[in-house]
Amino acid sequence: METSPDTSVGIAGLKFKNPIVVASSECAANFRLLKNWTNRKIGAIVTKTFTSPAEFRIRVRPYQFPLNKFGKAYRQGGCLYSLAAPHVEDSETVKIQVAQMAEHCRASSVILIASFFEDPQNDDLWIRQAKSFERAGADMLELNFSSPSAAKVFSQSFDSAGHIISQVKKNTSIPIGLKLSPTLEPLELFIQACADAGLDFVTAHNAPSGIVVDVENEVPFGAPALGGYVMGRVFLPYSLGRIVRIRKIVDIPIIGVGGIYEAQDALQYILCGCPLIGIGSALYFKGPRILDEIHNGITDWMQQKGYGTLSEFQGKAFTHIKDAASLKSREKHPYTTPPDCPYIPIIDDELCNRCGICETTCIYNVFSVDKNKSMVLVHEDKCWSCGFCVGICPAGAIELRDRKSKQKLIWNNQGLAQSF
Ligand SMILES: Cc1cc2nc3c(=O)[nH]c(=O)nc-3n(C[C@H](O)[C@H](O)[C@H](O)COP(=O)(O)O)c2cc1C
Repeated sequence: METSPDTSVGIAGLKFKNPIVVASSECAANFRLLKNWTNRKIGAIVTKTFTSPAEFRIRVRPYQFPLNKFGKAYRQGGCLYSLAAPHVEDSETVKIQVAQMAEHCRASSVILIASFFEDPQNDDLWIRQAKSFERAGADMLELNFSSPSAAKVFSQSFDSAGHIISQVKKNTSIPIGLKLSPTLEPLELFIQACADAGLDFVTAHNAPSGIVVDVENEVPFGAPALGGYVMGRVFLPYSLGRIVRIRKIVDIPIIGVGGIYEAQDALQYILCGCPLIGIGSALYFKGPRILDEIHNGITDWMQQKGYGTLSEFQGKAFTHIKDAASLKSREKHPYTTPPDCPYIPIIDDELCNRCGICETTCIYNVFSVDKNKSMVLVHEDKCWSCGFCVGICPAGAIELRDRKSKQKLIWNNQGLAQSF
């Protein structure tokens, strides 16, 4: 009988059953809610972000507005406009809840990560809360530097972020990470300052905020303020891009979060080097079963590829990523214009169904379907070798090939284009 691949992961001296993390949200706001997830295929749960000042805990209601009514792309992409804020209960109640959560997680062999954020000017409060969550039994701490008010302070003072990390580290003995804002810049300098302060892991990222207008009613949709998590699945390439930037400068374990709805999404983060991946809004749109589906999808893929452990492929795609300037410096045809561009589309007549999408979408007017819809004419002399047609053809009938030989394959929508 074939053995199932080993998906366990070790970071910061802790062992995770598998790489799937329930990212911070109301899903783990208290003990009762946390129990919805612990019997699923997960390695860790991050609690809802807790905070002590009462003014940060005010919750307006309603606060969750899925964007389903705005069309298929929003519906399928899991876009949510949300005014969810830090947890509402006071520190004493939270401490009791975290202790119950920790005990339950320990019995389920799930790592519990306590998320919190305090006034960036008040080190003592950060230290006090960190110690109290450690005493309550949390395995790790996630300092939420991504809440809008904290992110603003930290973007103006990297020293204060480094200072809080080193103070919390000095006063506790469990691994310390931070939750990163998706807009904080300059990212490299910030991360380096935090790594220098002794950070054990980074969770990247919280989702960007925005606003949606209900055009029919001519008012902001739901609530008249900027809310979070508006990006859904399309957030993935953005979050992943910043993770690549982080990994280029520091070797620190990253929990990759943003737009994960399927196993292939999770695998993108792992292939870029993340040992763990976090799932946020998909839990709301798909329910607990998505955790098992993603885990099963990962193990199926590993089996198909012949991988026994995650470390065999973790970071494999990352090693291919260069900076854009180096691609430009090696480009063989930097200034060509039609008709001298190096690659042209070749249509497979058997696959092509003459739908005409290439004709309508090519802004260079390279394609035209003949009157009888019997063939697609390719006006090679107009082609800029951009490759758009390859990705847009619903029948997968177009390849980009070398203009001269018409044989050498350059791009067929798979993997890396041959020109790089
Ligand atoms: C309703 C909701 C509440 C959230 N609350 C928190 C929070 O309290 N603390 C935090 O660090 N991130 C919070 N997040 C952000 C998620 O942890 C995650 O970073 C973000 O949603 C991006 O991941 P996703 O694309 O999988 O949703 C919340 C997300 C949602 C959808």
